[in-house]
Amino acid sequence: MANIFTRTATGVMDWVNARAPGMMPAYRKHMTEYYAPKNFNIWYIFGVLSIVVLVNQILTGIFLTMHFKPSAAEAFASVEYIMRDVEWGWLIRYMHSTGASLFFIVIYIHMFRGLMYGSYQKPRELVWILGMLIYLVLMAEAFLGYVLPWGQMSFWGAKVIISLFGAIPVIGNGLTEWIMGDYLPGDATLNRFFALHVIALPLVLLLLVVLHIFALHEVGSNNPDGVEIKKGPKGNRWSPTAPADGVPFHPYYTVKDGFYVGGFLILAAFIIFFAPAMGGWFLEHDNFTEANRLVTPEHIKPVWYYTPYYAMLRVVPHKLSGVLVMFGAIAILFLVPWLDRAKVKSYRYRGVLSKVLLGVFALCFIWLGKIGAGPGTDPVETIIGRFLTAFYFLFFLTMPIWTKIDKTKPVPERVTTHD
Ligand code: HEM
Repeated sequence: MANIFTRTATGVMDWVNARAPGMMPAYRKHMTEYYAPKNFNIWYIFGVLSIVVLVNQILTGIFLTMHFKPSAAEAFASVEYIMRDVEWGWLIRYMHSTGASLFFIVIYIHMFRGLMYGSYQKPRELVWILGMLIYLVLMAEAFLGYVLPWGQMSFWGAKVIISLFGAIPVIGNGLTEWIMGDYLPGDATLNRFFALHVIALPLVLLLLVVLHIFALHEVGSNNPDGVEIKKGPKGNRWSPTAPADGVPFHPYYTVKDGFYVGGFLILAAFIIFFAPAMGGWFLEHDNFTEANRLVTPEHIKPVWYYTPYYAMLRVVPHKLSGVLVMFGAIAILFLVPWLDRAKVKSYRYRGVLSKVLLGVFALCFIWLGKIGAGPGTDPVETIIGRFLTAFYFLFFLTMPIWTKIDKTKPVPERVTTHD
């Protein structure tokens, strides 16, 4: 029996290989013969977890689309219908809504790992740039999705965010109207947001993810030591030409990642089954009420993953300046590969100054997130928010200086395996 299967499988593979000879080499290059550094630690699983969440969002999204009605009159009720009447609809929806927040948790950790190990430094600038483009598209995608259920927060969130474009001189008002297709978010807005959310941006996202991984596989992965395994001695037990400190991605990392993916799915299941709204952080309370253009919610604030930037917008007194600061905060991240002048990649071998600044930066980002999630009425918090915003920018703007003057430790010749 097994023989028939093996022979059929080999036959099919030979048939495909004869017609698409480039496919097996591509599989080898990106899987079995992709030699990844042997010293990856837990920070290195978040790229794979991002793929897992991306696949979850696409699959659950397809099923939600089958029952969702993209019109202002029907959207809210169609989501209620999915939750109550569609078989397993509640599960599909909670997998999708929880997935959105998990996506950002995983991505923020993935980005922080990049900062910690200097993974954006030469020759991986392109990997970082493509990652940043993914981050931008992901934020747009999540915003569009949030508008679809047409709850109070969907409506008022859309109104506040789209109105930001109104701060642009001359074209602002026309642009706002053009984006909404109306004077307020309405049927036209919902319809176009639906089109962009279910097909346009997911396509762009998928393409960018493929390019991100291809770009990474051209240069090879960085690792917690920040030393290039390709430069070290050649030859290991799998290939005489492979880097000595590399192990084939399959089966070594497929198995290791598989283990962590299992753990991650268990955690995700706990949230989906027991706390899908996460106390209002993942699904905001006001969004369980249908959109009403005559009733403004008490606090209009975006979902947690935007709140650090939202805090920056709010603490800057002038609207256009606030908008510029907010977008500038994201734009400056693109420049990190050129702002960092350190001779070593990994923070393991950097001095105390760099370590403290990176730690304070992370805390400052989280604190801004907390301020952005609050009502924004406390004047002391506004002052603190201004200091934090200033620190956020100073961290990057002075990066060329402190990365250069900070003492570094000698980097090992080969990767180390202690953690
Ligand atoms: C859908 C979103 C994303 C997916 C699916 C994704 C996927 C991956 C995967 C599978 C890897 C290799 C495994 C790993 O190193 O963890 C990787 C590496 C990397 N990613 Fe992403 N990524 C995403 C977003 C981002 C973002 C937003 C950034 C930063 C702006 C980023 C920056 C990087 C960098 C610098 C590396 C190389 C890390 C190293 O070799 O040390 N990625 N990504």
